[in-house]
Amino acid sequence: MPEVMMATRQAGTAATHTILEVKNLEAWYGESHILHGMNFNVNAGEVVTLLGRNGAGKTTTLKSIMGILGKRTGSVRFNERELIRMTSDRIARLGIALCPEERGIFASLDVRENLLLPPVVRAGGLSLDQIFELFPNLKERLKSQGTKLSGGEQQMLAIARILRTGASLLMLDEPTEGLAPVIIQQIGHTIARLKKEGFTILLVEQNFRFASTVADRYYVVEHGKVIDGFSNAELPANMDKLHSYLGV
Ligand SMILES: Nc1ncnc2c1ncn2[C@@H]1O[C@H](COP(=O)(O)OP(=O)(O)O)[C@@H](O)[C@H]1O
Ligand SMILES: [Mg+2]
Repeated sequence: MPEVMMATRQAGTAATHTILEVKNLEAWYGESHILHGMNFNVNAGEVVTLLGRNGAGKTTTLKSIMGILGKRTGSVRFNERELIRMTSDRIARLGIALCPEERGIFASLDVRENLLLPPVVRAGGLSLDQIFELFPNLKERLKSQGTKLSGGEQQMLAIARILRTGASLLMLDEPTEGLAPVIIQQIGHTIARLKKEGFTILLVEQNFRFASTVADRYYVVEHGKVIDGFSNAELPANMDKLHSYLGV
């Protein structure tokens, strides 16, 4: 094999290193024990999807990684650093951002103000111009109040906002929830583009059909645990199991 090819392959191998490793993660809301030992990992540059029924613990998992939940135990390692005892702002500064299910767009602020809200925590974040190139609609709506935006525009804004911060791991909680098919398709294109730009994405989805258009790998969450996992290539052989897990 020519040397240049070898070099490419090695680069490919290096790109599959684990950047997020979740081990025996348990979490509580007050007295309610919700996560019972989550185990999964995400490699650099991947789109990994957590699937599972309502109430399985997917959102709680993302919140636990972000450090915005009172009590959690086990291990969450990001680029070899242990996060389990870190505060959420330190975790954010290491380069993890969460786009929450409820989107968190401030109704009284306009698009520009919403975009500028989260602090830039690291170098490498996108500039406003780069963001507008990804989301041309947002540029047209720059002076619109949060309340005037459609659901799709709010979701785009919620994703755009975390791209400025410099985070390299983006956690997106049900970005397609309640949106029309044409908007869901746009979000799919956006995720594919972000992956191409080198972002790593941990996605939570109920919409398996959508997830299958963007994800490299899947984990199935049930009762606060990962009960199965497979890659896109393994998907056809696992469709029956998946239907029974998700009850669809
Ligand atoms: N703030 C909260 N306080 C107490 N229990 C909660 C809270 N949020 C979620 N739960 C419970 O935790 C479990 C997991 O919820 P969640 O992580 O939101 O599930 P998913 O995102 O998979 O639908 C559910 O039983 C839910 O009722
Ligand atoms: Mg949820």
